Amino acid sequence: MKTEYLQVNPENLDRRPFRKAGDLLRQGEVVAFPTETVYGLGANALNANAVKKIFLAKGRPHDNPLIVHIAEFEQLKPLVQGISEKAYVLMHRFWPGPLTLIFPKSNLVPNEVTAGLDTVAVRMPRHPVALKLIKEAGVPIAAPSANTSGLPSPTEGAHVLADLNGKIPLILDGGETEVGLESTVVDVTVEPPLILRPGGVTLEEIEDAIGQAAYDPGLSKDKNETPRSPGMKYTHYSPKADVFIVDGPDKDRAQKITAVFHRMTQEGKKVALLLSEETGREINGINGRVIPCYYEVLGSKNDLPSVAHRLFSSLRRCDYHGADIVLIEAFPEQGVGAAVMNRIRKAAGNQVIN
Ligand code: TXA
Ligand code: MG
Repeated sequence: MKTEYLQVNPENLDRRPFRKAGDLLRQGEVVAFPTETVYGLGANALNANAVKKIFLAKGRPHDNPLIVHIAEFEQLKPLVQGISEKAYVLMHRFWPGPLTLIFPKSNLVPNEVTAGLDTVAVRMPRHPVALKLIKEAGVPIAAPSANTSGLPSPTEGAHVLADLNGKIPLILDGGETEVGLESTVVDVTVEPPLILRPGGVTLEEIEDAIGQAAYDPGLSKDKNETPRSPGMKYTHYSPKADVFIVDGPDKDRAQKITAVFHRMTQEGKKVALLLSEETGREINGINGRVIPCYYEVLGSKNDLPSVAHRLFSSLRRCDYHGADIVLIEAFPEQGVGAAVMNRIRKAAGNQVIN
């Protein structure tokens, strides 16, 4: 299959690419498009055969359900059975935006979308291209991240092309995504509401809206509980290189990274470094001998949204530079830092140097 690649300017939405994308979606095809979090691979959520093509193109495990994307509040009701008071509060506070809510599903939603669960995940993205595409298609759009399963989620059109060229008919390129990691998934069918996947909206923001909420105990690596979000049990967001987290007291970081870097380099490994601005500065001060195959400052420990914005594209760049090993620093877990560390742990398969 030939993959068509069309640029769209989010500030000036020419209708032509959308007409083409809308036609494809109505014909039961898949289309990749930008959202404010990451790029999605969309299909008509009400067409089981179209939805199957998403799983095929990504190589996605069949027990991992999809998020249904809507552009207007009226599109929600037919998809669900009952909307709780807290769900209303969260929708009105955070939609359109990087929040996904879990509802009891209606019969309209095919089992292919929900992987057989009796709940459905719904979100209203805030990216102008995503909103216009959903309106143009005239149907809700089921869409996972538009990457090959297991790789870091795409935050640029070029990432989608690298993963899915030849496997899908159309990519809409709307530039870099803003948030850089996925939406927060919240189960509002339980009390207190549970965060099944940390993301663009923080626990602090959710609690400010509805009072107490909690992380799914299955997210913690120490507990032997299975995550309630099927997607969180897989190794994920991983570049081809082997990823190690460098944790422990801030004051030792630069020394530790330097030591580990030299050990691994002596073993013949090509090592990439993804660091905080603070540690990056210190390492430069230690010596000039640390010459990684790739080096990037993800951002300050006090500016976690910047770190979130860069994380996935940085992991991909480590692969482009031929890294065997990526040493990535641990970041504080406040605010969006919780989502950042969740993705870093997944990318590292929990390999930590303390
Ligand atoms: O920001 C995002 O959410 C992006 C953009 C494209 O909107 N989408 C995304 O989709 O990240 P995906 O498929 O990569 O992740 C969806 C997550 C998975 O962890 C999945 O298991 C969970 O949502 N999920 C979907 N339906 C669910 C359900 N009914 N119950 C629990 N978890 C569900
Ligand atoms: Mg994904």
